[in-house]
Amino acid sequence: MSLLDQARTVRERAWVPYSRFKVGAAILAESGAVYVGCNVENVAYPQGTCAEAGAIAAMVAGGDTRIREVVVVADSSTPTPPCGGCRQKLREFAGPEVTVTMATLDGARLTMTMDQLLPGAFGADHMDRA
Ligand code: THU
Repeated sequence: MSLLDQARTVRERAWVPYSRFKVGAAILAESGAVYVGCNVENVAYPQGTCAEAGAIAAMVAGGDTRIREVVVVADSSTPTPPCGGCRQKLREFAGPEVTVTMATLDGARLTMTMDQLLPGAFGADHMDRA
């Protein structure tokens, strides 16, 4: 199954009783393994987690820490980008050149690099005097 199909499939499992907005994410790690995640909402709204965060947690639990490629799928009229927090979470494990492809259910696609999504990212180098 393609990365896109895996993101589409996991999206169906999203727990979204509050927003009704299902998101699926699939991460291809440098090892070749694929990790998926969906958004999981909570009645205490801030406790909800994004699809990307779920996929990252699965990746780290699976023993991978370097990302080669990311796909995010949602049913929106234009491709849904990762939220600001997820851009930083992805950047922890993805270099600036890693691509994030955003796909809608009706076939629209947008591919951007991590550097385009999070220019001037905060990184460990900024703490060189700490
Ligand atoms: N959401 C994601 O899971 N990923 C994104 O890239 C954007 C937003 C989720 C969070 C929440 O469950 C719902 O979409 C509405 O914000």
